[in-house]
Amino acid sequence: MKNKLCLITGATSGIGRATALKLADLGASLLLLSRNEKMGEKICDQIKKGNSNAQTKFYKVDISSMKEVSNVSEKIKADFDHIDVLINNAGARFDQYFKNDEGIELTFATNHLGHFLLTLSLIEMLKKAPQGRIINISSPAHSRGTLEFDDIVAPANYDRRLAYGRSKLANLYFTYELSSRLKNYKITVNAVDPGGVATNFSRNNGIYAWLKHYLSYILQLKLISPQKAAETIVYLASSEDVSKTTGKYFYEKKEINSSPASYSKEAALKLWQISSKLTGSGSL
Ligand SMILES: NC(=O)c1ccc[n+]([C@@H]2O[C@H](COP(=O)([O-])OP(=O)(O)OC[C@H]3O[C@@H](n4cnc5c(N)ncnc54)[C@H](OP(=O)(O)O)[C@@H]3O)[C@@H](O)[C@H]2O)c1
Repeated sequence: MKNKLCLITGATSGIGRATALKLADLGASLLLLSRNEKMGEKICDQIKKGNSNAQTKFYKVDISSMKEVSNVSEKIKADFDHIDVLINNAGARFDQYFKNDEGIELTFATNHLGHFLLTLSLIEMLKKAPQGRIINISSPAHSRGTLEFDDIVAPANYDRRLAYGRSKLANLYFTYELSSRLKNYKITVNAVDPGGVATNFSRNNGIYAWLKHYLSYILQLKLISPQKAAETIVYLASSEDVSKTTGKYFYEKKEINSSPASYSKEAALKLWQISSKLTGSGSL
């Protein structure tokens, strides 16, 4: 990964942090995006301690704010001329209904819309890479999502599991639609099911919700470390085996099928149109 520039969102914790450390070990240069500046700088220092030649730069952004995403994209474009790998990893679940500053339900804004805008804002930089790669972190929870998008921006009856499932289904629609729109470019787009991972996921909902999340995977004997989960992401970011593979869903470095609903081209197009309208981006 020497001379490769990789951008990771949600790099201050869990899977994103483990991915950043592994990519740095492989010699990649890293752009780390998160909202916790102190933690971001700490991880940059940690990477540099392990690899004195590692190039890292931290950008503070709340990915759920379209205004902040637009601003950070402009900064990145001013600082670098291309990006080799974009890893859309930041994500959260919210037990209560919150809205972002723009009035958009927070799970949808964080897990899908901010990444939609970030990706399209930086797409010209990915086109300049010899082989661009985009990796979206989804979840098996996507199969709980439904095809109805009419109330996705402001649901009348908020259901935290449905909201999270729909946001992770959106990650797959975005992956499949973007991959098809980029078929004439040297950019691959794939999605990952990271597994059940021991991270800070759901800690924002309190210790009980966090432990419940942990426990559900422990009881299924399926809890893995962030380092293990990062392996599939690093594989997609670096391996020659998948340098031309696009529009696929991966688990443990192998292609798997996502839910039948996730392959609806009509729903993917509808989501694209809604996302374009909300962000003012989306022409490719
Ligand atoms: N853990 C699992 O079992 C599991 C399973 C399936 C899928 N996933 C997916 O894996 C991805 C990574 O999650 P994780 O398990 O590593 O959780 P995590 O430890 O909570 O890490 C999430 C990262 O995303 C960042 N983030 C969250 N909201 C943000 C925002 N508004 N703006 C900027 N950064 C934000 C967090 O930053 P802060 O520290 O500032 O909050 C953190 O760096 C997510 O997309 C999640 O949906 C996780």
